[in-house]
Amino acid sequence: MPPILPQPGVLDIAPYEGGAAALPDGRAVLKLSANENPLGPSPGARAAYLAEAERLERYPSGGHDALRAAIAETHGLDPARIVCGAGSDELIALLCHAYAGPGDVVLHTQHGFAMYRIGAQAAGATPQSVPERDRRVDVAALIASADDRTRIVFIANPGNPTGTFLEPDALARLAEGLPTGCLLVLDGAYAEFADGYDGGAALVTARQDVVMLRTFSKIHGLGGLRVGWALGPAHVVDVLNRVRGPFNLSSPALAAAEAAMRDTGWVAQCRAENARWRAWLAEALRGLGLAVDDSHANFVLARFADPAEATAADAALRAEGILARRVTGYGFPEALRITVGDADGCRRVAATMAGFRSARGAA
Ligand SMILES: Cc1ncc(COP(=O)(O)O)c(C=O)c1O
Repeated sequence: MPPILPQPGVLDIAPYEGGAAALPDGRAVLKLSANENPLGPSPGARAAYLAEAERLERYPSGGHDALRAAIAETHGLDPARIVCGAGSDELIALLCHAYAGPGDVVLHTQHGFAMYRIGAQAAGATPQSVPERDRRVDVAALIASADDRTRIVFIANPGNPTGTFLEPDALARLAEGLPTGCLLVLDGAYAEFADGYDGGAALVTARQDVVMLRTFSKIHGLGGLRVGWALGPAHVVDVLNRVRGPFNLSSPALAAAEAAMRDTGWVAQCRAENARWRAWLAEALRGLGLAVDDSHANFVLARFADPAEATAADAALRAEGILARRVTGYGFPEALRITVGDADGCRRVAATMAGFRSARGAA
């Protein structure tokens, strides 16, 4: 019998590794490994989710009209330019499948989110990593790397796991400098945490070759429901609507996301709490002698002297039931990415790291 093989490239994929959610001994944990919202979703979103339990025999809306209207009203956008997906992960995959294939190149940055590489490989395209400069996206390097084989350029802004931020004028320069026929995808999974940033929406609206991705998994606290959205030019929206599943979002997910989007007070509160405790945590870690860039997201990247110290710090946190994220696969074997938790969570991280550093005679 001939072997049954997947498409070229599929078996080259190194599967995505998520943040740890449990300890082997089953102790209660403080999970700071997946950039989840410590305050959870809006109470209105929870209620909307539960209300949908009364009509689960019905198919969900295939056009996501109510959710797109809520997004459009909240962000001042055209609902016809919005497509919703099962997390931004689904939209990343759909963009790769629709626009890249064998012989094509998908660019991502050196420390970029793993799903860009996986999406490209799954589509049979070749992912290519472009160096960053001091943990920041390097616009000139991206422009220099793009050629007529480049179909998509993915950038997360703010970056994950760096937390660094590219100013809107640099994004505009990047869009302008890429070759014709190449789509620039601005992944704004953490956009709400960056002061005054629109996620790239204005650039999308002004051009025909830029797409913005957003998620309900971070500031809206709905990672468990899998809802994301894209804003794009009409021709990209048309393509995504052709290739997506007709009912790609469940009715509880649609209802909860709509309520979450409309609860702007909750979002503002989450943003303010995150900003406050992000600054506090970064200062506390710097005070212990760790290297921490200013973060524009809901996590900080703490850099240690070397990979061995990061391993020991991770173990010290785990001993206290705290799960941070190793980011070796993102090019930072010497670092831990730590989600900004609530006040108590941040204090626990700082106290544990203080004990760790003083035991090593480092602070
Ligand atoms: C930069 C970035 N993009 C996209 C995602 C995926 O988000 P979603 O939960 O919407 O699939 C994440 C999740 O961690 C992320 O960090």
